[in-house]
Amino acid sequence: MCGIVGIIGQRDAAPLLLDALKRLEYRGYDSAGLATVDAQGAMSRRRSAGKLRNLERRVETEPLVGGTGIGHTRWATHGAPNEANAHPHVAAPVAVVHNGIIENFRALRDRLAKSGATLTSETDSETIAHLMAQRLAAGEDVKTALLGTIGALEGAYALAFAFEGQPQLLAAARSGSPLAIGFGDDGVMIGSDAIALAPFCDKIIYLDDGDVAILTPTRVDIFDQSGTPVERPAVAVPVQISLAEKGNYRHFMAKEIHEQPEVIARTIGHYLDIGAATMRSDAVPIDFADYRRVSLTACGTAYYSGLVARHWFEHLARLPVDLDVASEFRYRAQNFPRDELSMFVSQSGETADTLASLRACRAAGQTIATIVNVPTSTMARETDIMLPTLAGPEIGVASTKAFTCQLATLAAVAIKAGLDRGTLDEASAREKIEALIEAPRLVADALHVEPQIERIAKIVAPARSALFIGRGPAYGIALEGALKLKELSYIHAEGYAAGELKHGPIALVDDSVPVVVVAPYDDLFAKTVSNMEEVAARGARIILITDARGADAAGEAAEETLVMPDAPSFIHPLVMTVPLQLLAYHAAITNGTDVDQPRNLAKSVTVE
Ligand code: G6P
Repeated sequence: MCGIVGIIGQRDAAPLLLDALKRLEYRGYDSAGLATVDAQGAMSRRRSAGKLRNLERRVETEPLVGGTGIGHTRWATHGAPNEANAHPHVAAPVAVVHNGIIENFRALRDRLAKSGATLTSETDSETIAHLMAQRLAAGEDVKTALLGTIGALEGAYALAFAFEGQPQLLAAARSGSPLAIGFGDDGVMIGSDAIALAPFCDKIIYLDDGDVAILTPTRVDIFDQSGTPVERPAVAVPVQISLAEKGNYRHFMAKEIHEQPEVIARTIGHYLDIGAATMRSDAVPIDFADYRRVSLTACGTAYYSGLVARHWFEHLARLPVDLDVASEFRYRAQNFPRDELSMFVSQSGETADTLASLRACRAAGQTIATIVNVPTSTMARETDIMLPTLAGPEIGVASTKAFTCQLATLAAVAIKAGLDRGTLDEASAREKIEALIEAPRLVADALHVEPQIERIAKIVAPARSALFIGRGPAYGIALEGALKLKELSYIHAEGYAAGELKHGPIALVDDSVPVVVVAPYDDLFAKTVSNMEEVAARGARIILITDARGADAAGEAAEETLVMPDAPSFIHPLVMTVPLQLLAYHAAITNGTDVDQPRNLAKSVTVE
């Protein structure tokens, strides 16, 4: 999603803004721009389509001067990702950068056009510059104009403004989309997240929904929607955020895949007393005996963690799970039964649909538990019970380590649910806990198949289409494997419940379609193998992902068999995810796609 930066400093702003924007590249974007104001108050702007290096080249040939400025990476919503639609948008004397969607922009554009404004882009964001400029022209001060402007906006936004003629002033506003203000040696800064600001600032303030801020070199004044001054706490920039570097890896994704044993161990250590092989009593402050149902809501990869967790809750705790993607959940006619716990899963804690679903449950008076990776995020702040995944900052757009940490957390929570509800006796709980404690070691072992996967990726990379199948907990993993492949390598990939193949997708199968079969040796193994035989009989090229016992029992249908370490069946989903991540990664390398920032995708989806 769009990235926002801003600075009032002593040095030239453009290099600092470009640096901070580079740290936001991970969010996904398709054009970028900067505007600066020099000491005399003159404003200049440079924008370009495509990657930041295009903007950098532009700034090299046409330098920008001035210590105050704003910058933006744009993930297109309204209008193509070209220069005219890139931010900042200017309506003299105002320049604005925007993350989010203004839902009433058509009405605003019409109104502005009637009042004589000339709009030069197709964006919703440009209307904001004009609204603000009109108010300033009418004699309002910046604070009044800003409150009036946001009062006219419907939708989600994080905004940063610079002003021609005012070299020492920036303004900001937030509703829905996150925004932080930082203080450092180079000056006062604005950023979409702590990652953008980490190298420059030790302390940051997160604006609350509805806040506006007026920034000068010496002070930051924050007001709520009604214009009343408010204090927001300054927090230290988490040290791990400044460590968001690639290390010796070629891509963040490779680093994040290989970090999994460590971050899963860290996450498990939060929920389990590893030495005693017991649950930490205070880590999951929920008594599942109080609930008869769970609703689990998430988007994308996080949703697939819920698909796996549904099995765990139903098997271990006999707890029915109502699972949905957040973009559907929020518009369903909900009953919100009192005895239902509302759970959400999100890496970023900012995904617009998940957040809106959380707020709908909050409005209905439900108890809310959220599994979230960013502890300072909006969801982390708005939930009743925060269940952290300790994956550390995830920079690759395609989620990897956050997913396996979500699985680890959900596995621990499901054990707790089983204990609370008396459906899991102490001995069985201990067996599950011991299995979970093994996960980091087994995930580390699973990484050893990488050389074989590099070879298999060469089979998959030229394909136009691929199928991924699995049953039971492996069904969610098959869906995640298909999502990873399509996100990263742009190969059309479908994940299917193995038993559903013959109800349609088998029509697609011929010898050009690789079929990835996720079949650990568990109770459902023989069923999945039958489905594998059905597609093999139609000429499909089978890649079987299993374990040693599965490889012995699977017969000859597979062209390639990836033998994963033998693992307790409870943690198969964690182990089986690794080869699928590696397959997508190496297929993307073979196809030459942008691994860390695949086209059209965004890391943190802050619009509906
Ligand atoms: C985007 C990302 C995915 C992620 C999904 C949900 O689509 O590209 O990797 O799974 O959003 O994000 P969340 O932060 O809520 O887990």
